[in-house]
Amino acid sequence: MPLSIPLEDNFTDIIAKAQRGLSLSNEALATRSGVSVLEIENLKQGSLDEEALRKVAHTLGLGAEALLALAESRYKPAPVEEPEGLACFNSVFGDITVNSFVVWDPSTTEAAFFDTGADGQPMLDFAASHGLTVKQIFITHIHTDHVFDLDRLMEKTGVPAWVCEKEPLSGAESFRAGRAFYIGSLTVDTLQTSGHAAGGVTFFIQGLTKAIAVVGDSMFAGSMGGGMVSYADALRNNREQILTLPDTTIICPGHGPLTTVSEQKHANPFFSA
Ligand SMILES: [Fe+2]
Repeated sequence: MPLSIPLEDNFTDIIAKAQRGLSLSNEALATRSGVSVLEIENLKQGSLDEEALRKVAHTLGLGAEALLALAESRYKPAPVEEPEGLACFNSVFGDITVNSFVVWDPSTTEAAFFDTGADGQPMLDFAASHGLTVKQIFITHIHTDHVFDLDRLMEKTGVPAWVCEKEPLSGAESFRAGRAFYIGSLTVDTLQTSGHAAGGVTFFIQGLTKAIAVVGDSMFAGSMGGGMVSYADALRNNREQILTLPDTTIICPGHGPLTTVSEQKHANPFFSA
């Protein structure tokens, strides 16, 4: 049974992220969109005015249909079955929840952890109860919620943790995006998806019945992590590195439910304009 995790962002979060990313004040957004500042403020407080939403979406480069589907709670991510070799974990971190993943090769039982979440013990328990041998820990980016339990996971497994060289972490090994890793017979390609984080990496894993992309906060079902380092890079990298993967690829995001590449091409307001 797939975990049931709610969407990470609602339509007001998405408008705010795009507005911040483009450095547009409410006044500038009003001038460009032809929507009054008051209407923009109302929209951002969650009161839905379809005409205003369409104009604001257009100005912000967001897909209006996808944004409206979110605003009207019509976007329900299609449930994604985890293929054998993938397990999703969701832990509570303050007032949010964060995902982490175990990926393994069913034929060799070699395994890897992807991010740690707030509490890595369930992943350790899962590996033990399934007879898996954890060989590596991969980190999508070093924001605290993703590496919070890294010390414990490294101590309990005794295996190396890998982070992108663009954001080195004491005690962890660094790699340059583009390097390939292996989990038994599975291949793990590393794609640079920086923008939300300076060293954001997507791990593209092939060899299970479905390809998997562990994307960290680069992309969420129906949204993406804020472009804190570079909004333009975040958009471009997601388009070029994630949305070019095969349509059936399962996207494993750092927050919110699993989704697929094909679904995000039309359901994600950031990429469906
Ligand atoms: Fe993050």
